[in-house]
Amino acid sequence: MTKLEELVQEINRFEAIISEWDESQRCVAVGLKRAIEALHKEALTRLIKSLKLESMSALRHAVNDEVVYAVLLYHELVKSPQPSLTQRIQTALEEVRPGLKSHNGDVELVAIKLPDTVEVRLIGTCSNCPASTLTLSEGIEQAIKKYCPEITKVIAVNNPPTINSANSGLSSPFLTQVTSAWVKLATVDQVPESSVLAVQFAGNSLILHRQGVNITCYRNACTHLGDSLEAGNVENGIITCPFHGFQYSLETGECLTAPNVSLKSYPVKIKGDNVFVQMQK
Ligand code: FES
Repeated sequence: MTKLEELVQEINRFEAIISEWDESQRCVAVGLKRAIEALHKEALTRLIKSLKLESMSALRHAVNDEVVYAVLLYHELVKSPQPSLTQRIQTALEEVRPGLKSHNGDVELVAIKLPDTVEVRLIGTCSNCPASTLTLSEGIEQAIKKYCPEITKVIAVNNPPTINSANSGLSSPFLTQVTSAWVKLATVDQVPESSVLAVQFAGNSLILHRQGVNITCYRNACTHLGDSLEAGNVENGIITCPFHGFQYSLETGECLTAPNVSLKSYPVKIKGDNVFVQMQK
């Protein structure tokens, strides 16, 4: 136990005893404590003033002592310590981490490039998600800027640029397999105009939507954070993600909320009453 802890423990012991006393006795004890503290504060204020006139380095040296610092802090004669820039960045990353982890992703601090730049690395799903730019700008960057207003640039390093085409979908379990096939996923009647039909194929979740005779099929994954879209509201051929409100045209898959993060689409053909979707297998 440090000297400071020892002294504080002693104060706490007496305070615990006093707290058991009846009110009039407690008032006397508290009054005495406050009077002594006021005397000490006045003395310390004068001491600091003199020290400042004589030697700032002596004052700094004195404040570095944990007991001196604790007493000055108690009397509000020094400011409480500001967390370092690194600590504040870590606090910001902690704030966004649960959201990233829920999508099997994460983020780590790579470097602080003073005066205004922070480099981070997106990990796991986040590193190859087509929405990684949004994750960075909307989540991570905002959080860092909230805790560290001096930081104006947040850069993701070691991540290939994945947002560059309309069909750059989430990483697909089908990617290593090149054979495609037309698969019957529904009948025309089953595909609604006022909402979407969610279907599963080979472990993949898809949504189908109909506008008149035209049927479209997309991966059931919002390009923002990958949540499923099937419960989204559909109005005038536009689906709104129920989670954070990203909107997509169900005719083209285009994201109307952010550029270049369209839904992954699949070719569709109708034969008789049946809806076939071209899948890779
Ligand atoms: S997951 Fe955020 S808007 Fe869809």
